[in-house]
Amino acid sequence: MPDVRLFSSLKLRDVTLKNRIVVSPMWQYAGENGFPTDWHLMNLGRLADGGAGLVFQEGTTVERRGCGTLGDIGIWDDAFIPAMSRLASVMRDNGAVPGIQLMHAGRKARQQRPWEGRNLLERSAEIADWDAWEPIAPSALPMAEGLAPPREMTLADIAAITEAFVSATRRAVAAGYEALELHAAHGYLLHTFLCEASNQRGDAYGGDFARRARFVLEIVEAVRAAWPQDKPLFVRLSCVDRSGWTMSDTIQLTRLLVPLGVDVIDCTSGGLKGSPLSTGRPPEYGYQAAYAAELRRETRVLTAAVGLIVHAEHAERLLAEGAADLIAIGREMIYNPNWPIDAAQKLGVDAGFGLFAERAAFWLS
Ligand SMILES: Cc1cc2nc3c(=O)[nH]c(=O)nc-3n(C[C@H](O)[C@H](O)[C@H](O)COP(=O)(O)O)c2cc1C
Repeated sequence: MPDVRLFSSLKLRDVTLKNRIVVSPMWQYAGENGFPTDWHLMNLGRLADGGAGLVFQEGTTVERRGCGTLGDIGIWDDAFIPAMSRLASVMRDNGAVPGIQLMHAGRKARQQRPWEGRNLLERSAEIADWDAWEPIAPSALPMAEGLAPPREMTLADIAAITEAFVSATRRAVAAGYEALELHAAHGYLLHTFLCEASNQRGDAYGGDFARRARFVLEIVEAVRAAWPQDKPLFVRLSCVDRSGWTMSDTIQLTRLLVPLGVDVIDCTSGGLKGSPLSTGRPPEYGYQAAYAAELRRETRVLTAAVGLIVHAEHAERLLAEGAADLIAIGREMIYNPNWPIDAAQKLGVDAGFGLFAERAAFWLS
């Protein structure tokens, strides 16, 4: 079998990924009152069966306020554990390491779904707990001019949300996930603390770089203590955005995250002012991979590259060039959940279709 990096295993603490392909977390807008539905079970099952080494379940919120839009799923109560446990099992039973991304939408809460325009939702009888679903942020600054501002968080809110991340982590452990990612990108709550454009607090959580990073660092430290030592912790960062945060900030932050027990930085970009996918121009293949490469080179941290990585040869080249340790794929997995199996054919590493379950491999080979 040829020596192909994309299909080499990677051990992260005591968890071994069978290959370097990660399904990037993707909201499905299909939850009911925060609970996953049959759609999630089917979707995560087919993604796992498609051959990726690690599948990250969509951004799962740590409190009700943290939902971004209608149909988001959460893990803010023990009542969610059985349903989440089924999702983790379906991923594991179909060959992937089951991962969960924990998040809080912050000022991007209570928005329309993307295809409806992403504007702030209007109060309606359909949303029974409207007041409990309050957009909050480090400062009362809206994402865009003309939008209603979020409520500025108190120190009590900050403590409560740190605790919500810890409780969510404990539930993720109980549900059986084996990899956990904290979403600190795309303009959601943790990202808004990092950036001066969205954080103008005058207390210990705003001001210079160290103060703006404090909330994220406290959450990472608390989550790491609640997440088993033998399981990997990922953090997703917007390495650059168009609002003042630069690669050198990301490098500085990563140097603080690694000693706290972060294993992988998932390198994305943008989102502080709108959708991270709306760059204003058609993005190029691998448009964010340079961030993963620079961060890896400068800090030696393991990185995941993401963003329009579509072709197997390209994914392999990124790994061979040392741009990243993992290749995360989003939209292409919507198009073809069997992308990893197809990539293995294209790279010539799966002559007998051994990546498929035997019931399919027998016939295909
Ligand atoms: C439908 C959809 C939902 C997404 N939901 C999330 C999410 O829950 N958390 C997250 O960090 N990124 C989310 N993203 C961003 C993807 O994880 C990924 O970073 C982005 O789509 C770029 O990769 P791609 O070009 O391979 O799709 C979402 C993207 C899509 C298309």
